Amino acid sequence: MVPSILFVCLGNICRSPLAEAAFREEARRLKLDAVTDSAGTGNWHIGSPPDPRAQAVALNNGVDISGLRGRQVKPADFRRFTHLVAMDHDNLANLRRIAPPDATAKLSLLLDHVEGRAGQAVADPYYGEDDGFDVTWADVTDGARALAVKLLRHKI
Ligand code: 4NP
Repeated sequence: MVPSILFVCLGNICRSPLAEAAFREEARRLKLDAVTDSAGTGNWHIGSPPDPRAQAVALNNGVDISGLRGRQVKPADFRRFTHLVAMDHDNLANLRRIAPPDATAKLSLLLDHVEGRAGQAVADPYYGEDDGFDVTWADVTDGARALAVKLLRHKI
């Protein structure tokens, strides 16, 4: 079965679009066939493009995310995707809270997949300085690479 991954943060304009972009790059490199998307637990940025700072850091790393648009997680996502991957503990707790009874997707934190970083969060860069987005990019790339390798090896 082709794995399908939904990356989840709060607003779906900073961390999860970057995680989606980083994962797509890793999957392409590894020739891993996968379906990807991202969504937010909040509803403030439905229909919005990624934050300009997220777009800039992605472009600096060779990826154009300007075409992505924010959307909110919905109950059908818990059946449509094989994996829902949250950026932080609040996102994960919210996913557990709204999961429908017939949910089939596996839930995890992105950094759970990185050796030595299980339980760590991808910090929310929204209210911080611009250089916070470089840290976000480094974190989501770490997570995306580890997740892609695990999926390739059928370890999750
Ligand atoms: P994200 O960042 O969850 O990484 O997309 C945020 C974006 C917007 C808000 C909070 C976090 N907000 O409060 O509007």
